[in-house]
Amino acid sequence: MLRRQIIHIISTLVACPLPSVACYGIQTSRLTFIFLAIVCKAHTTKSQSLSCNYNDLTALNSFRKCVDSPVDGWGAIPDSECCSWAGVKCDNSTATLRRVIGLDLGGRGLTGEICESLADLDQLITLNLSHNYLHGLLPDKLFRMQNLEVLDLSGNEFVGSFPLHVHLPCIRILDVSDNNLVGSLASTICDRSRSIESLNFAENRFHGEVPGNIGNCTSLERLFLSGNSLSGSLPERLFQLKHLRELQFQDNGFSGPLHERIDNLSNVVKIDLSNNLFSGVLPDVFRGLQKLEYFAVRSNKFSGQLPASLMSSPSLSTLDLNNNTLAGRISINCSSMAHLTSLNLGSNLFLGPLPENLSSCHRLNVLNLANNQVSGAIPSSFQNLQALTLLSLSRTEISELSTALHILQRCRNLSVLVLSMSFRDEEMLGHADLLFPYLKAFVIANSQLEGSIPVWLRGCENLQLLDLSWNRLSGRIPSWIGDFGFLFYLGLGNNSFSGDIPRSLSELQGCINSSRSFPPAGSPSDVPLLSGKGDGRFLTYNQFWNLPSTLDLSYNKLNGPIWPSFGNLKGLQAFYLGNNELSGNILDKLNLSHNRLMGEIPTAFQKLTFLSAFDVSYNKLSGEVPSEGQFLTFPASSFEGNIGLCGSRLSLPSCQSQPPSDEHRKEEASTKETAFSRMALGIGAAIGFISTVSLCFLSGWVLDEV
Ligand SMILES: *[C@@H]1O[C@H](CO)[C@@H](O)[C@H](O)[C@H]1NC(C)=O
Ligand SMILES: *[C@@H]1O[C@H](CO)[C@@H](O)[C@H](O)[C@H]1NC(C)=O
Ligand SMILES: *[C@@H]1O[C@H](CO)[C@@H](O)[C@H](O)[C@H]1NC(C)=O
Ligand SMILES: *[C@@H]1O[C@H](CO)[C@@H](O)[C@H](O)[C@H]1NC(C)=O
Ligand SMILES: *[C@@H]1O[C@H](CO)[C@@H](O)[C@H](O)[C@H]1NC(C)=O
Ligand SMILES: *[C@@H]1O[C@H](CO)[C@@H](O)[C@H](O)[C@H]1NC(C)=O
Ligand SMILES: *[C@@H]1O[C@H](CO)[C@@H](O)[C@H](O)[C@H]1NC(C)=O
Ligand SMILES: *[C@@H]1O[C@H](CO)[C@@H](O)[C@H](O)[C@H]1NC(C)=O
Ligand SMILES: *[C@@H]1O[C@H](CO)[C@@H](O)[C@H](O)[C@H]1NC(C)=O
Ligand SMILES: *[C@@H]1O[C@H](CO)[C@@H](O)[C@H](O)[C@H]1NC(C)=O
Ligand SMILES: *[C@@H]1O[C@H](CO)[C@@H](O)[C@H](O)[C@H]1NC(C)=O
Repeated sequence: MLRRQIIHIISTLVACPLPSVACYGIQTSRLTFIFLAIVCKAHTTKSQSLSCNYNDLTALNSFRKCVDSPVDGWGAIPDSECCSWAGVKCDNSTATLRRVIGLDLGGRGLTGEICESLADLDQLITLNLSHNYLHGLLPDKLFRMQNLEVLDLSGNEFVGSFPLHVHLPCIRILDVSDNNLVGSLASTICDRSRSIESLNFAENRFHGEVPGNIGNCTSLERLFLSGNSLSGSLPERLFQLKHLRELQFQDNGFSGPLHERIDNLSNVVKIDLSNNLFSGVLPDVFRGLQKLEYFAVRSNKFSGQLPASLMSSPSLSTLDLNNNTLAGRISINCSSMAHLTSLNLGSNLFLGPLPENLSSCHRLNVLNLANNQVSGAIPSSFQNLQALTLLSLSRTEISELSTALHILQRCRNLSVLVLSMSFRDEEMLGHADLLFPYLKAFVIANSQLEGSIPVWLRGCENLQLLDLSWNRLSGRIPSWIGDFGFLFYLGLGNNSFSGDIPRSLSELQGCINSSRSFPPAGSPSDVPLLSGKGDGRFLTYNQFWNLPSTLDLSYNKLNGPIWPSFGNLKGLQAFYLGNNELSGNILDKLNLSHNRLMGEIPTAFQKLTFLSAFDVSYNKLSGEVPSEGQFLTFPASSFEGNIGLCGSRLSLPSCQSQPPSDEHRKEEASTKETAFSRMALGIGAAIGFISTVSLCFLSGWVLDEV
């Protein structure tokens, strides 16, 4: 107990500054000691003596003058206890005048500039100002700090170029990513900062080539250059860096072949060269890269065949060669690729059958072979792909849908299945005995499929996205579609469905409550999946789970009413009904062009303030087009093709000059009556519905598509 007290006193004393000489050498009487300690402590606070080095304190205070926001957790200006300020770390080796060795102010909302005086913290080992709103130029002096090991300025708004003369003899980690820096990467950093392990220039506006002296950074393990405008080929000296573990060069303008010398990087784990202009063949040198786990060269211009050493790499877990011009057969040695979990060979020129032995890649979780000329049926061995969760075979020559589905249903973990623009002219299996219990997304659009909505889909209780659009499916839309608990996207457009729109669709929980738990665990969010729709260009679902909540029933032969209860679908963001044979009043919908709507446009619509688009063209509407409120903003095209409409604007025929014949008027009267009484009942729901729909007009979803 006593010991502890003394230790406490000593530590108080230690914090006591030099001028209080009285504190020194008096250790005879404990009482005096305690007394003095108290005096000393009082003295300390009164005289504002320093517990951190005076120069360091000055540097910190001028730092906070330069950033023009207060730094939370820092004492007021006279306060000198800077070692206890938030984010300030002092060394604890010396008894007095502790030196600041760390400044960690990441994500504190700091604004303003940083001034050179920060470099006066000459004992600083760590400087982290990441994720603030700091702007201005990078002070040169910061890049000549003799003790600095970690410099993180990422995620700010710094401008100007990276300093040419850098001398950071101790630096290990340097991160200036995600700023607005410009100019070239030419710098002495690699000549004079030999201990650097991680260099991050990503997400800026650097241009020019990677300087050859990068080869002088002999300790380099991680090099991040992604998201700039860098060009040229990779310098050969890069391949001398034997400690390199991670290379991220994606999203630049690099070109030239992939150097064979890459095989020298025997420690490399991750290589990403996606979205560049690399060309030539992939060198067959991957045998040397025994630690390589991630290799992505998506969207380049690589050609030739798959290198055997790549397709038998025992360490590889992710391989992304999407969108190149690779050709030949897909040959893969899964016996040796024991770790492969994601294989993306989409959008290339591969042909021939699907490789039978792909099925021995037991851990394969994601497989994208879309947009290739692969052909034939799915081999039955695919049923062994028990880990498969995502499969895309869109836009291929693959056939035998029935066989395919019977095999794939054995892949119990399959949750995303995209088969658009393949299996052309086949029959959708209506009554097969199939079960896909975990299926969350099923997309088979634009395949000229015949048949009806298959009954087995009913068992896919987890279905969230169903897209059968652009086929030749017919029959009624079954009412059990409304029973799906999670369905938020239903695409049935451009088929030949007939009959009523089932009222149950207005009960789709996934369209009522749009809050989704996405993406589902383990689902890859960056695999572009071809939906197969769109005029000439593809719609890609690369943000699959972010699609707007949609009901697309357009371009069918549906008739009957549109239920006012559709107003319940508060989460719905896009509703397409155009080009059907719908009847009923127009109250409950907005883009109802090309239907058979009759009656008048309710004048109550004039009071609605949220309609940003409105289209009732090519119906059988009559009467006066409202001429107030938002109706003043709708173009003539919204009303054209309705023989009975009249009005004083939009070059419509004047209402006085065209009195309907008595006979006609009688006939309309009854229609009108029903229309208006229904309107009275439905208006609450309808307004909710319309605001939902108009939201999607506003955000461009409806206008963008089809
Ligand atoms: C001094 O700091 C180091 C870490 O920076 C810590 O491990 C050590 O325990 C500290 N020593 C004392 C006496 O507080
Ligand atoms: C800097 O701080 C942020 C948190 O604010 C942290 O995420 C980041 O890892 C730090 N940088 C370094 C190099 O440690
Ligand atoms: C750095 O690399 C260049 C070649 O790019 C070389 O000429 C120079 O000697 C190297 N500098 C040092 C200090 O090693
Ligand atoms: C390959 O790496 C070794 C060190 O691992 C190095 O000595 C050699 O120069 C490198 N070769 C080339 C061509 O870069
Ligand atoms: C495919 O790669 C080319 C460049 O080779 C690029 O222009 C295009 O945008 C890429 N397409 C997709 C869908 O990523
Ligand atoms: C894979 O199967 C094909 C026949 O489908 C065969 O020609 C090839 O040698 C097999 N490859 C491996 C690596 O087993
Ligand atoms: C596939 O890899 C296994 C294991 O590495 C090897 O024994 C076999 O010969 C390879 N097959 C082919 C066709 O290369
Ligand atoms: C299938 O998914 C479940 C749940 O995500 C997982 O626990 C299981 O390991 C998966 N099966 C395989 C063969 O990967
Ligand atoms: C309907 O689908 C066919 C292909 O099945 C396509 O050619 C046509 O353009 C589509 N029509 C509309 C209006 O989307
Ligand atoms: C919507 O769903 C979320 C979670 O899926 C739930 O927390 C929330 O209560 C639901 N809201 C309504 C109105 O049902
Ligand atoms: C309404 O849909 C039709 C197709 O059904 C389309 O031609 C028209 O442009 C759409 N109107 C508006 C305002 O988006």
